[in-house]
Amino acid sequence: MCGIVGYTGKQPAAPILLEGLSKLEYRGYDSAGLAVRSGDALAEVVKATGKLKNLIEMTDGGKTLPGLCGIGHTRWATHGEPSRANAHPHVSGNATGSGSGPVESDVVGVHNGIIENYEELRQKLLHNGYRFYSGTDTEVVIKLVDYYYKKYKIGPIDAINRMMVRVRGSYALALMFKDYPGELYCARKDSPLIIGVADGETFLASDVPAILKYTREVYYIDNLQSARLCPGEAHFFDLNGDEVAVPLTTITWNAEAAEKGGYEHFMIKEIHEQPRAVKDTLNSIIKDGRIDLSASGMTTDLLQSVKNLCIVACGSAWHVGMAAQYVIEDLCGLPVRVELASEFRYRKPVLGENSLVVVISQSGETADSLAALREAKSAGIPTLAVINVVGSTIAREADHVLYTLAGPEIAVATTKAYSAQLVMLYALAVELAETHGKLDEESYRFYQDALLKLPEQMERALENKERIQWFAAKHANARDIFFIGRGLDYAICLEGSLKMKEISYIHSEAYAAGELKHGTISLIENGTLVIGVLTQKALIEKTVSNMAECKARGAYLMGLTGYGNYNVEETANFTVYVPNTDPHFYGSVAIIPLQLLAYYTSVSKGLDVDKPRNLAKSVTVE
Ligand code: F6R
Repeated sequence: MCGIVGYTGKQPAAPILLEGLSKLEYRGYDSAGLAVRSGDALAEVVKATGKLKNLIEMTDGGKTLPGLCGIGHTRWATHGEPSRANAHPHVSGNATGSGSGPVESDVVGVHNGIIENYEELRQKLLHNGYRFYSGTDTEVVIKLVDYYYKKYKIGPIDAINRMMVRVRGSYALALMFKDYPGELYCARKDSPLIIGVADGETFLASDVPAILKYTREVYYIDNLQSARLCPGEAHFFDLNGDEVAVPLTTITWNAEAAEKGGYEHFMIKEIHEQPRAVKDTLNSIIKDGRIDLSASGMTTDLLQSVKNLCIVACGSAWHVGMAAQYVIEDLCGLPVRVELASEFRYRKPVLGENSLVVVISQSGETADSLAALREAKSAGIPTLAVINVVGSTIAREADHVLYTLAGPEIAVATTKAYSAQLVMLYALAVELAETHGKLDEESYRFYQDALLKLPEQMERALENKERIQWFAAKHANARDIFFIGRGLDYAICLEGSLKMKEISYIHSEAYAAGELKHGTISLIENGTLVIGVLTQKALIEKTVSNMAECKARGAYLMGLTGYGNYNVEETANFTVYVPNTDPHFYGSVAIIPLQLLAYYTSVSKGLDVDKPRNLAKSVTVE
């Protein structure tokens, strides 16, 4: 989704803003823009459609925009088509046709989020003499701030607060006021925004990588708070306009973790970082030889009281839930429901007493997952969030939080955060099983050891790269790919199929192998690629039979199985082996060849692997 950046300090702002925007490119965008002001001079706005490099070229890397204070934006269209007029920054006055140039306006701003009642507000502003040059909700919100600023002759913070009371929706807003040179103002509700400070410099951004090169000292501005930023300082205010204290937090990620580090793409770098992400995540919760989830605030009493779980998430995080469902039900004997957050939020889910709602999210900002969390909280059900981004909205609002330690994930298609989430859910399963008296000490140790062996097994699964690269190149022109499996293998298929379709643009489907003959098998033609995931010993034969049915109709078969299951070769045309692990935890090793297959297919097709079309890293709108 949109990315916003801001800077006020002692260096030229534009190059810093452009660099920050480049670090937010992964969020997805269709246009970009900057507003920079030099001392008391009017802010100068420049916008460009398409890639950020267009804006970089137009401004000669920022050199044409002198000034030490500015804001920048990458836009992912929600209201209004992608165009220069709709690109941010937006202004309170009437912009020129292209939207670029010095602006007379009192307020200039950028916005990430959606203003739900923007039409009603637009009418109100039209009635009060305002004119609109774009189709965006952002222009409406900036003009609304301007309206209150002038009508009540109040300062920026009071004008922003009046706006916050009036608008519905989500926003992270960064504004500059003509009368307040060298200062930035910002506010947020349900959209991510962080503020970083260094000696004589202050930064704002939608996400940490944008400012990591300059500072690790950040403030997480809270919902419905606003802030005034001056060089090296940040002051926070509540809705009444009273100054409030916000704690300064130190980011422990290093800047290198957010760079490509010699890899061609972030995705392949992040695929390789998985053993480390899993190891770090496990190390954070296995202390003195035992799983310890107490940092989340969950007590043994709470875990013992849980009689059923409802896992809610979107996309790959939902696939983690699907895998966890098999593991938790099998190890703990507790019923588990797995819900898509976008559905859950609009249902009246019947959750029994002693339920625990588990929300899984890498970004911690996914709008549907956040809404689902609030739904569960308002029903009085305890909530646990499994989150990667520290201080994100879901992390702050959940009753309990377990942080995955995947580090910054830049590629739009998740890999290392998925793997870190998976092990966190396995650990939760083992801990729940123990507290429910389902594991004796020997079995507890066995599962814990099996978890600790995963990083090394994942490392070995990565060794198969060249064969998969060759296979991917051979099938890069496939029209359809089917991923089939049973039980836990079906959950692995769901993630393998999503990885493939989102970055290779090849239509793919994950199917429970036994379901094929109830309709979908009619799609199998000569040469259709069918990938059978075969890690669950008791189910291998059955899935192999389903693969054989596909082969008889012309399919080309790839089998993915644990070392030693050589009989798969009798049916499959191409077989990939992964290290054996405890059956519950196979997802962690089996997903690696599927991620690599998707990655190399996308590379073979010459596609934008890290930023696939139409997708955004952090889906902060419905
Ligand atoms: C797919 C992918 C998405 C996310 C989904 C949820 O590769 O990354 O499906 O898993 O958008 O995002 P988070 O985990 O940030 O809530």
